[in-house]
Amino acid sequence: MNKLSLKLSENNVGCYINTNLKNINEEQTLEIKKLLNKHGVLFFKDQNLSPEEYISFASHFGKPAEYPMLKPHKDFKDIYVIERKKTDTGMSFGEGPHTDSSYLSKPPSYTMLQAINVPKEGQGNTLFYNQFLAYDALPENIKYKIENLKGIFSSKGKIAQTRVLREAEHGTSDTKEIKSEHRLVQSIEGRKTIYCSPGHIVGFANENSDQKELIDFLISHQTKKDFSFSFSWRKGDIAIWANKSILHAATAFNGDRKMYRITIQ
Ligand SMILES: [Fe+2]
Repeated sequence: MNKLSLKLSENNVGCYINTNLKNINEEQTLEIKKLLNKHGVLFFKDQNLSPEEYISFASHFGKPAEYPMLKPHKDFKDIYVIERKKTDTGMSFGEGPHTDSSYLSKPPSYTMLQAINVPKEGQGNTLFYNQFLAYDALPENIKYKIENLKGIFSSKGKIAQTRVLREAEHGTSDTKEIKSEHRLVQSIEGRKTIYCSPGHIVGFANENSDQKELIDFLISHQTKKDFSFSFSWRKGDIAIWANKSILHAATAFNGDRKMYRITIQ
């Protein structure tokens, strides 16, 4: 089989892959996983998979994860509908940098989104921030400081406010706080990343006298423009990313947008 053709995105945050995701075989799956581990996020334009084909593509990456906050799609239990409506006021779901469900003891390894209904190109983008690059660019003293630190991540962190409208419509009604601790430095195939979800972090598990300053420093560093890329969606596009190496954020806009999300355990 020919190697997949790829093109790096702006700032090397991830890459575009030019291939058809319908019925991928084991060899293609291995190659996609390799690229995903290396680049963090992959963009596949103009796929237009049916829900069944999308679920089948996702199944190559592992078992689908349950999302504790919303009920799944009524016909496809692996798919969660992520929506913005033109009648919405306030923030979009997921607006603000985060990694999905970092408050769980086992957060999902991968997340994928499929564009079902999107506004005109350039609106309703998703921002991605590459945390391999962010880690590499940290000053040595900060690398040393965070090497063994654990963050505390909460489902009631600041991104929670962006879920309110959708939880009111089809939430699970489970309002109790979920909290977990994770190391702030993680690695994928030996390359280190910063694992600090700005939308969920509420403190450090370890004693630390300059906790607030360090969290503020990390967040502003992780989300620098140098490590970011704003992906513009067209209907049918699919993006998949590794939650250990990529932060993401919805961007503000007014209008209708519908995405299908699948997360992998
Ligand atoms: Fe998200």
